[in-house]
Amino acid sequence: MSNKVLVISGTVTAPEKSYSIGVVNLFLEHYTKLNPNDEIIHLDLNNEPMAQKTLTRDNFSTFFNEKDSLEYIKQLKSVDKVIISSPMNNFAVSGLIKNYLDHVLLADQTFSYKYSKKGDAIGLLDNLKVQIITTQGAPKGWYPFGDHSAFLKGTFEFVGADVKEPILLAGTKVAPLSGQTPIEAAKSIEDVVVNAAQCF
Ligand SMILES: Cc1cc2nc3c(=O)[nH]c(=O)nc-3n(C[C@H](O)[C@H](O)[C@H](O)COP(=O)(O)O)c2cc1C
Repeated sequence: MSNKVLVISGTVTAPEKSYSIGVVNLFLEHYTKLNPNDEIIHLDLNNEPMAQKTLTRDNFSTFFNEKDSLEYIKQLKSVDKVIISSPMNNFAVSGLIKNYLDHVLLADQTFSYKYSKKGDAIGLLDNLKVQIITTQGAPKGWYPFGDHSAFLKGTFEFVGADVKEPILLAGTKVAPLSGQTPIEAAKSIEDVVVNAAQCF
């Protein structure tokens, strides 16, 4: 059986210099060897006008429109798997990723409060398996208040997805990774990447 895989990238770094893209590419190298018939769809949020739009009081009434929200929700419902990557930017996901999520996290489209227990929701993206790939300049655990991997995992679980253990490449701003190319740095966690690709 072949699957459709949507690869969403939210870094603002040039692709050849990006650590998160480095890990995504390594993941895809292993994944496509195991799943040669899958369709891979790339969504670089730098190229999507919706990801440049932040929700404000002035645009609230037009923000969730067909082109910026519903088309992307339709895309999420049309695929089987999502690989989403984000660097840590100021203790959070990048603004591009936040703007993307703000457009697709829409009540009665991707989740519903109907029939749900207190504090919980019914996720409407239960078609999805999700692999999160994150990077951060600091070593792992330095900023527990800004855990972007946990934020993404919880968010996709909220919409009903089957979220795999996130892959985090931490410490890209300190030695030894800071002296390595993104490809070399990604290879430092290749065992984790291979294992995740096999389980996805
Ligand atoms: C605007 C900006 C903000 C950043 N904020 C943080 C941060 O809060 N914590 C951290 O550990 N690294 C931070 N970094 C470093 C990046 O997370 C790190 O360089 C990461 O590897 C970037 O991934 P990329 O190469 O795919 O863009 C920041 C980088 C930028 C450009």
